[in-house]
Amino acid sequence: MSRKHVAVLISGRGSNMAALIEAAKDKNYPAEIVLVVSNRPDAGGLLVAQADGIATEVVDHLKFGKDRAAFERALQAALAKHRIDIVCLAGFMRLLTADFVNQWQNRLLNIHPALLPAFKGLDTHKRALEAGVKIHGATVHFVVAEMDSGPVIAQGAVSVRDDDTEAALSLRVLGVEHRIYPLALKLVAEGRVRVMDGRCLIDGVPVPDSAQLVPAAD
Ligand code: GRF
Repeated sequence: MSRKHVAVLISGRGSNMAALIEAAKDKNYPAEIVLVVSNRPDAGGLLVAQADGIATEVVDHLKFGKDRAAFERALQAALAKHRIDIVCLAGFMRLLTADFVNQWQNRLLNIHPALLPAFKGLDTHKRALEAGVKIHGATVHFVVAEMDSGPVIAQGAVSVRDDDTEAALSLRVLGVEHRIYPLALKLVAEGRVRVMDGRCLIDGVPVPDSAQLVPAAD
């Protein structure tokens, strides 16, 4: 089995990137993290990737001013150089244009710290607490041009506690993120995810156990 070549795009600390790198250390994992790209030269995740001997590139959006097309051409060049099959966004804080997204249709994944379609955008944990939801979590989805939309590949949930703080809740959700992202990438790399009518079918089934993590009795 040839392992898919994966690039992870980050802007910050890269804990989800690290979870993907860790999972891919297993030779039986169907994907290999061959490149980490950051749009910020100071992203902490770059050092983590380098320590694991993974190639890193910085494509600094500030150098391109308002020219998004030029920024994305530079991104594409880095991805092409490393013959990337699948791209994982992991805390990558730049919006990508429809042009870029369409070129990577069903090969571009993102992780969002909420149970989409609830709480798109930023400050998801704060907003979940304010809304008083009892279940919160994280979603891995294929990226489409519209932000935080696109077919859901995997989701994981946590219970929201009465005395939760934003920090405590975000930490528990992050733990879920680190489990579902490697799971979702595995499913995609194995070619087990098919998109039909805007929904992911996994092994031909709409809601397989392999794509969900439900709250433990905590
Ligand atoms: C994560 O919460 C992810 O869901 C969101 O940005 C955060 C990135 O964290 N998109 P890290 O850099 O992976 O630690």
